[in-house]
Amino acid sequence: MPAFSDTRAAAHAPPARVGDPTGERLRGTGSAHGKAILIGEHAVVYGRAAIALPVHSLRVRAEAVRTAQAGLLVSDLYTGAFDAAPARLAPTVTAARATLEALGTREQIELRVHSGIPPERGVGSSAAVAAAVVAAVAAAFGIVFDDGRHHELVQVAERAAHGTPSGLDARAVRAAGPIWFRSGETAALPVGATFAFVIADSGVPGRTGEAVRGVRALREADPARVDHVIASLGVLAEAARGQLSDGDVPGLGAAMDEAHDLLDGLGLGDPALQRLVRAARGAGASGAKLTGGGRGGCVLVLAPDAADAPRLACALTGAGAAAVWTSTLEATA
Ligand code: MEV
Repeated sequence: MPAFSDTRAAAHAPPARVGDPTGERLRGTGSAHGKAILIGEHAVVYGRAAIALPVHSLRVRAEAVRTAQAGLLVSDLYTGAFDAAPARLAPTVTAARATLEALGTREQIELRVHSGIPPERGVGSSAAVAAAVVAAVAAAFGIVFDDGRHHELVQVAERAAHGTPSGLDARAVRAAGPIWFRSGETAALPVGATFAFVIADSGVPGRTGEAVRGVRALREADPARVDHVIASLGVLAEAARGQLSDGDVPGLGAAMDEAHDLLDGLGLGDPALQRLVRAARGAGASGAKLTGGGRGGCVLVLAPDAADAPRLACALTGAGAAAVWTSTLEATA
């Protein structure tokens, strides 16, 4: 399997001087995209394999300007001092502070974040914001971290977001194509045909931290059953890797359906998710499952053919989806 190489890793734009008369202030930018987990969410926390897809149509951009003042955050959700930022933005502030610490500077930054990724929907908002912020802050100091260092800093923010992140999200939001992830190791995956996906937002916030803690509690109460489900999800991930490389759309769809039912059995479902999954299957999807932490958030739907994706998107909107996005994997050479 080819080693993972992320040529699109968080826009490492070289720092550019901005129009400041002192010429002292430097500006850096960074960006990252959303992600959807194809198979293996939750099981990946227990060392099983997972596959995630980048969602390039969902993007976040960050800009950092060095300042001698206190740290300032300007975003759609909040504008004000780092110190007074609301708890839900703690991962963003953590990413900025961890990066400044890694740079060994006492300077502060004015940080602007523009995100088109809906938060708390299992499509990678927290990891993507952190990845963009790390890149922007580093660039403001003329630094491009190596891949491992960048990943570790995103993970610091992810731990502030939801406790014990596997690292899958942090990798997927910077990956150019689908990735295989297991126990911290990542590899790019070959794709044998076009796979067209529709992602539909249930409109219900999913809280990854709570969902992960819920699975842990269930595992403590019933280890045999939960370990069996986790192992089954790992087997499905292995199968999905082959289905992707073989271009087997029906096979992958069936694996997604099975994964959804297994995740639902772990208490990760939600009536709104179930409605969308049923609507997708009723409209002829090859497969449909919740994606990400669950208990809300989004469903990932596989179309039999790229030409079917708009029709499935319409069916999902008709079934109450708050938003839909399409994402197509093209065959690799
Ligand atoms: C969340 O997007 C994915 C989970 O598997 C958690 C993780 O991998 O850290 C639920």
